[in-house]
Amino acid sequence: MAGRLQASTAISFSALLPLLSCRSSFSATGKSLSFRRFCSKPLALSSPLMEVSAQARRGFSFQEGDFASPADLCFESPLKIVEYPDPILRARNKRINTFDENLKKLVEEMFDLMYRTDGIGLSAPQVGVNVQLMVFNPAGEHGEGEEIVLVNPVVYKTSKRSILYNEGCLSFPGIYADIERPASVKVDARDLTGGRFKVNLSGLPARVFQHEFDHLQGTLFFDRMTEDVLESIRSELKALEKKYERRTGLPSPEIIDKYERTKEVAGFART
Ligand SMILES: *[C@@H]1O[C@H](CO)[C@@H](O)[C@H](O)[C@H]1NC(C)=O
Ligand SMILES: [Zn+2]
Repeated sequence: MAGRLQASTAISFSALLPLLSCRSSFSATGKSLSFRRFCSKPLALSSPLMEVSAQARRGFSFQEGDFASPADLCFESPLKIVEYPDPILRARNKRINTFDENLKKLVEEMFDLMYRTDGIGLSAPQVGVNVQLMVFNPAGEHGEGEEIVLVNPVVYKTSKRSILYNEGCLSFPGIYADIERPASVKVDARDLTGGRFKVNLSGLPARVFQHEFDHLQGTLFFDRMTEDVLESIRSELKALEKKYERRTGLPSPEIIDKYERTKEVAGFART
């Protein structure tokens, strides 16, 4: 989630790059040579192509409950923010069951990027890694407030009381809009070492958490806006769609002018 004073920064690299370099041949994209690539141990750097084909075969047996493979947890450093309407933001995010140095490094880099972009919360899909992981610090400054890392979070209770709050999102640079959400939530999650914990959140932490939790379900903040509020940011969403088309040469995978609220937005009580 974006802090209030966020300056809009143009992302010059293709948002697809982290995905391409991670899941397809590493050397096929010349640009990725300027990145450092991080993976969990089991994925040997020597044979990315073999890894991809093994992944493709396993793809047939993927179930809803499947955990992220080492390949799913690869990332390119430095991380970059994936912007709307990149399909990475709508892809399924797998649960994590490998709590290793690679995960720690990813979390470290997510905090760095979040502070650099004046964010107060960031989810893994927003940096091109489709796993159930979020970081946040409502203080928004390194060395201030509390850094919170949630792995595989589940919301098991929400307050009946809802409140309106003006939200921003790092994947929608410069766009802010009012969104109604429960005032407080009770969450069950794992920490960086895999330990389970429960936490009760209210105030700004509850707000940031729910925004990031939505990302982990592939839900974006405009999915929760009223028609009027959505109308107020329509032209800005269209501008992002155009920007994506220019950058990738692909048609926008989402078109706000054809947007219909047919999809059920995931509830909070269950995941
Ligand atoms: C959360 O709140 C409930 C009461 O509503 C309390 O019983 C529980 O201990 C709290 N959990 C934490 C982790 O603070
Ligand atoms: Zn966001």
